[in-house]
Amino acid sequence: MDFKSFAGTTIGVCGGLALYHFLLKDDASEPAYVPLLSERACKKWKGRHCLTVDNFTREDLNELFAIADQMDHIVKTRGTIDLCKDLLLTCLFYEPSTRTRCSFQSAMLRLGGKVVVIADAKAQSSVKKGETIQDTIRSLQCYSDVIAMRHPEKGSAAQAASAASVPILNGGDGPGAHPTQALLDAYTIYRHLGEVDGLTISLVGDLKYGRTTHSLAKLLTRFKNVKLNYVSPPSLAMPDYIMEYVSKHDGITQKEFQSLDDVLDTSDVIYMTRVQKERFPDPKDYEKVKNAFVLDLETCQKAKKGVKIMHPLPRITEITTDVDDFEGAIYFDEMRCGMLLRMALIAAVTGKA
Ligand code: CP
Repeated sequence: MDFKSFAGTTIGVCGGLALYHFLLKDDASEPAYVPLLSERACKKWKGRHCLTVDNFTREDLNELFAIADQMDHIVKTRGTIDLCKDLLLTCLFYEPSTRTRCSFQSAMLRLGGKVVVIADAKAQSSVKKGETIQDTIRSLQCYSDVIAMRHPEKGSAAQAASAASVPILNGGDGPGAHPTQALLDAYTIYRHLGEVDGLTISLVGDLKYGRTTHSLAKLLTRFKNVKLNYVSPPSLAMPDYIMEYVSKHDGITQKEFQSLDDVLDTSDVIYMTRVQKERFPDPKDYEKVKNAFVLDLETCQKAKKGVKIMHPLPRITEITTDVDDFEGAIYFDEMRCGMLLRMALIAAVTGKA
């Protein structure tokens, strides 16, 4: 090495070290994580499955949102923490996913933990040889402290939990439930509108097969004076069992519509969803409704002032790309909120919050 390159290297390393010590000092000036849960709340969360939203109380949501807010600060200021450094998450996915799988992975990695991923369980695991869900879970829990899973059949997460000694986090069971999506959706609304109580929220699109809307409608019953609008073609209407569940709760109203125009001037949140081709028994039925609702910029500009546009994603045609720059379009931030909420959930169910 000649002197010039040696000196350059030295200066570079010294500069790097100075920056490192500066960051370290900055990080060390405040605690990495301030525990927020009471002893009683810690006990309540530890070891808990997340299969549906049914068992979540308003108190649970307040706790999760407060932890997620702290995770936001941690991710912005430090990137990661070592809260779960001795723990391992397994992601067991029998169906494709971008957001749910990757945000669970990112959440655990940012908590300092380790992750094992089976991204296509039908092809990549002994499921292909006929192994049951229960036996797959009995195997994976030998290696893991918590398991996040997605499966095409309704009720599969409950089957997994029946054999599990570690928390099962349901990342979607067919047309059944998607509880962590509902939690992150409610958290996103709270972050962007400051509260969920008193809002008018319109769920639009495939409400028959859309597990995100099933879980969100149920979870919104935990808030006060929410008005729920269901906008869909008759063939994709919200299932009766969800409407019956919602109707049993005070302080929430629900109405059905067939046109987006009917809810534009009253909605605080318009929650668009994809028509789920993969759930239709007859592809001809999908063709009839696939473009039933398309939200474009012109329509957004006619909506209530301050309206927020959400979507669990992926989108196909139901939100045109010109909406992406609309000030109320929050569907990309919804994904980041998802990671923060999943960090909070993992920390809580592993007893680290
Ligand atoms: N929102 C959601 O569930 O997206 P993925 O299917 O990509 O996980």
